[in-house]
Amino acid sequence: MSAALKGLVLSGGAGTRLRPITHTSAKQLVPVANKPVLFYGLEALRAAGVTDVGIVVGDTQAEIEAAVGDGSALGISVTYIRQQAPLGLAHAVLTAEEFLDGAPFVMYLGDNLLRDGITGLVDRFRGGTSDAMILLQRVSDPESYGVAELEGGKVVRLVEKPPEPKSDLALVGVYMFSPAIMDSAKAIRPSGRGELEITDAIQHMIDRGLTVEPHEVTGWWKDTGRLEDMLEANRLILDVLETRVEGELVDSSTEGRVVIEKGARVVRSSIRGPAIIGAGALVEDAYIGPYSSISTGVVVRHAEVEHSILLEDSRVEDLDARVESSLIGRGVTIARTSEKPRAYRFMIGDSSSIGLV
Ligand code: G1P
Repeated sequence: MSAALKGLVLSGGAGTRLRPITHTSAKQLVPVANKPVLFYGLEALRAAGVTDVGIVVGDTQAEIEAAVGDGSALGISVTYIRQQAPLGLAHAVLTAEEFLDGAPFVMYLGDNLLRDGITGLVDRFRGGTSDAMILLQRVSDPESYGVAELEGGKVVRLVEKPPEPKSDLALVGVYMFSPAIMDSAKAIRPSGRGELEITDAIQHMIDRGLTVEPHEVTGWWKDTGRLEDMLEANRLILDVLETRVEGELVDSSTEGRVVIEKGARVVRSSIRGPAIIGAGALVEDAYIGPYSSISTGVVVRHAEVEHSILLEDSRVEDLDARVESSLIGRGVTIARTSEKPRAYRFMIGDSSSIGLV
């Protein structure tokens, strides 16, 4: 393939399955091991030598732009492309037609994480003659994804979220396309959910006799659209963490792989890794257990936290029971009070979920 590959990263979407976090913030910016999910994808593109990257944005454009900027900090050059409404992945491709300008491209869904990156696959696509390459992985719930049917190693059918899947091969949210995808994206009609599905556009390429090369991904892959997936992604990334202690430890102990970033203070506490404590966080008279990501400026005091993600500037204080398997939003406070009458007092956003003991 002669023209340089461009990158197209999709970072719109409503993130309905991660409410209430996504009422106020983009799902692609929820951090995994204290780094926005989106950055892992951008870094994977950079590693594969794809530096001219268009990011398709929606209502959360301002926030994505504030986080990524012109991309230079990540070694890429970013063009923002506004999609007026979340009308589907193939619609996003059409919206990006001017940016793509007839070049082949890698499309990367901004909430997807792949352990092994995409460098080898991008090289293979670059060196090959396929019109598209799709990544597949066997899953236990194929009905939640685009599903591929193969025959003799060839893709014969792709169906978006079939109620009765014919295989367990889910479409991973990374695709490589020749410019031929554009005509197919133009030819298809909206699906039952009212979106122009990329799955249907790829099926259209197959129907036109174009070659769609499948590749089964063996390393782990996560679409971080739901809380469980987010926590699992956090676990998977923390599992490959390298110990680094740049903050201050006072009368405290750490076990296992732990990162304590600059300006963080850990006082009379115990941290059992893998865990990360962000810059400027304060952990005092507390326990932080395995698979916890504590963001910048968070305070955990007289409390225990495990297997959780605490976003920037949240506070967890004076709790009797351990906080587990939780995603706590920015600036949230969970604390015991001595106010009378003795009662629970909440101010909680829409679609929140609280489990009390
Ligand atoms: C999208 C695609 C689906 C794919 C999935 C991967 O689904 O439509 O085919 O399997 O991404 O993450 P969505 O997450 O938009 O529901």
